[in-house]
Amino acid sequence: MQQVNRVLVTGGTGKTGRRVVQRLHDAHLPVRAGSRSGTPPFNWQERATWAAALQDIDTVYITYQPDFAVPGAADDMHAFSTQAVAAGVRRLVLLSGRGEDEAQRCEQIIQQAGVEWVIVRASWFNQNFDESFLLEPIIAGQIALPVTDVKEPFVDADDIADVVTAALIEDRHVGEVYELSGPRLLTFPEAVAEIAGATGRDLQFMSITPEQYTGFMRAGGVPEESIWLVNYLFTTVLDGRNATLTDGVPRSLGRAPRDFREYARLTAARGVWHNSLPRL
Ligand SMILES: NC(=O)c1ccc[n+]([C@@H]2O[C@H](COP(=O)([O-])OP(=O)(O)OC[C@H]3O[C@@H](n4cnc5c(N)ncnc54)[C@H](OP(=O)(O)O)[C@@H]3O)[C@@H](O)[C@H]2O)c1
Repeated sequence: MQQVNRVLVTGGTGKTGRRVVQRLHDAHLPVRAGSRSGTPPFNWQERATWAAALQDIDTVYITYQPDFAVPGAADDMHAFSTQAVAAGVRRLVLLSGRGEDEAQRCEQIIQQAGVEWVIVRASWFNQNFDESFLLEPIIAGQIALPVTDVKEPFVDADDIADVVTAALIEDRHVGEVYELSGPRLLTFPEAVAEIAGATGRDLQFMSITPEQYTGFMRAGGVPEESIWLVNYLFTTVLDGRNATLTDGVPRSLGRAPRDFREYARLTAARGVWHNSLPRL
């Protein structure tokens, strides 16, 4: 096990970061949650905030915002890793996305930073259905997306957090690229049907064109840069290129990943898909 002094978890209140922070707390390891609301604040778009977040840090979990596909991401990754190494960081663990050329370019930057590295390259998260933009449509009972029968091996954020936490604190993961998927390929209508089964609700799935989806997002006041990003993910990454299962979870943890049905059962039991709409 690495002698971990202090870990910086960027996106420390987000879907995977929050879970990693909790696991490090539970292991009584000192951790700093880095995000715009953190102390000190950390903002990918304001490089002046990076130095304070990196002070007295040994190990960093990097979750980039908003996405590696946005212009400037590779430049940020280069600048951040250079600054982190200069500040004394000895290990970088990167959350990357499957099938995204821009993310793979950022992986190479981390691999060439001159310190220990682990790459965690994830499929679509289950938690997009309850902690992100798919929550509201599910509560409303109607999910309209610009996808038809493309299959995705949705992976659970708890599995990602387990893999990342091990990568942060155990030496045997250094130099590994873990490609993470769940244990089953599902289409989006099939995933919604799983949630309908778990909640006992009647959920309608409708396949729409990217143009119609853009129109819905604009009408809902979604900012243009977010519309661009969501369209990129649905039209470029969700073209079937990731429709295979991978062995990252068993290879890292020695156990199977959580199935979407189990995720849906556990999440339905928390009641989030029945609640009135929260502000995201
Ligand atoms: N979602 C997926 O299915 C998926 C799949 C594969 C890879 N990924 C990758 O995973 C990464 C995280 O994506 P996610 O969707 O799971 O998001 P997330 O981690 O849930 O994002 C929210 C977190 O990011 C922080 N944050 C937001 N803007 C920030 C900024 N400008 N500077 C610093 N921190 C900021 C938020 O805290 P504050 O509000 O306090 O700043 C919060 O901690 C992305 O790089 C994405 O490409 C996602």
